Amino acid sequence: MRRKQARGCSFSREGRAPGLLCAMQAARYPTKVYFGKGAAKTHLPGILEAYGPNVLLAYGGGSIQKNGVYEELTGLLKAAGKVVTEFSGIMSNPTYAKVLEGARLARENQIDLILAVGGGSVIDCCKIVAAQAVEDVDLWDLEMVQHKAPAKTPIPLGAVVTASGTGAEMNGGAVITNEDARIKGGMFSAAPRFAILDPEYTMTLPRMQVLSGAFDTLSHAMETYFGRSDQDNVSDEVALSVMCSTVVNMRTLLQDINDYTARSNLMWTSAMAENGILKVGRRTDFECHQIEHQLGAYTDCNHGQGLAVLHPVYYRHIVENAPEKFARMGKTVFGAEGAAAAVDALAAFIRECGLPTQLSQLRSKVEITPELLRQVADSTNLLPNGYKQLTHDEVYEILMECL
Ligand code: NZQ
Ligand code: ZN
Repeated sequence: MRRKQARGCSFSREGRAPGLLCAMQAARYPTKVYFGKGAAKTHLPGILEAYGPNVLLAYGGGSIQKNGVYEELTGLLKAAGKVVTEFSGIMSNPTYAKVLEGARLARENQIDLILAVGGGSVIDCCKIVAAQAVEDVDLWDLEMVQHKAPAKTPIPLGAVVTASGTGAEMNGGAVITNEDARIKGGMFSAAPRFAILDPEYTMTLPRMQVLSGAFDTLSHAMETYFGRSDQDNVSDEVALSVMCSTVVNMRTLLQDINDYTARSNLMWTSAMAENGILKVGRRTDFECHQIEHQLGAYTDCNHGQGLAVLHPVYYRHIVENAPEKFARMGKTVFGAEGAAAAVDALAAFIRECGLPTQLSQLRSKVEITPELLRQVADSTNLLPNGYKQLTHDEVYEILMECL
């Protein structure tokens, strides 16, 4: 079944004014960021004083138990006298079933603070856990079917970032997969109240995840910049700077994946790209994200890697609709001359990083066939703010060109 056209930005939900949502979010973000080596040890004890005794410590598949982050954080929580309930096993591309499990735990244990320790998946899952735990209604139904916002104040949430790229730690959107509905879609809650960004915590992240996360950051800046807005304002300049910085630091990591300064820079560009600042006064595109999210709903592929496959093909479909904008990006970020060359330079950069360039190179839980891609295309949100309004058939063409 084809999905109705939606409006908005990366976390699109129907019925909101295009562009406005992003600008309004930028004005409302309350996340206090503690950045730098040793940030948890230095700041968490003081932060914890503001919250009640019961803490839900949420994490993924176990990386934090191998790299010492779990030990450090549980030590700090114990020293602060907190009663810790663990919520573990949050998977990449978190499911709505996992959200419901976390919400149950939070209710049963009268949780005062949720501490989400991980990348975008753990943080996103916990945002909706925080909101669902205090609501009597089913939030998927409320947000995704009825298109209404939750009314109650969620449980306070803090994020400790161990994998950067999504910028999830500084916004209120969450991307959740409903396996029954086969939809990976944007839901909303409050942004984390605080975020601890210690680049040291990311140093054990595998090379491919570092690069795919960084590509996600690049994608966020591009998706914002390529929104159809006629005004030329400072947001474009900031977006281009974020793109340049991301590319420079990714190239440093290609030489030495353990370069601390580059990882640290990427951790901040990641937050900058998706905390709303770039979107002030802008309409944003995010159609490529919509396609990737549905691809993820069907295949469970890695988010940044799915974007790497899709972006050049998507941009070849829209480049003629915004030649000046593409040429400006190509020249500023890659030193390329002309609009088509900008897309070629982006594709060459993706190859240089060793990121996937075809769907067949993605990790997928099912075989990726033309029939499957038809379903992905038909269930993709079509957003109105890019330089070209896509149809479901054109989404299918794009996906088939990625095979
Ligand atoms: O689960 P564990 O064992 O922790 O392993 C994770 C996971 O396998 C591992 N990892 C994380 N920190 C590590 C580490 N491994 C070793 N050392 C560390 N320090 O990394 C793997 C990937 O983690 P995940 O959180 O899934 O990756 P990412 O941060 O890329 O998040 C992806 C999710 O975020 C959504 C995506 O759609 C996807 O579901 N997004 C969220 C956004 C937002 N809220 O603003 C915007 C994005 O566009 C995106 O859609
Ligand atoms: Zn993304």
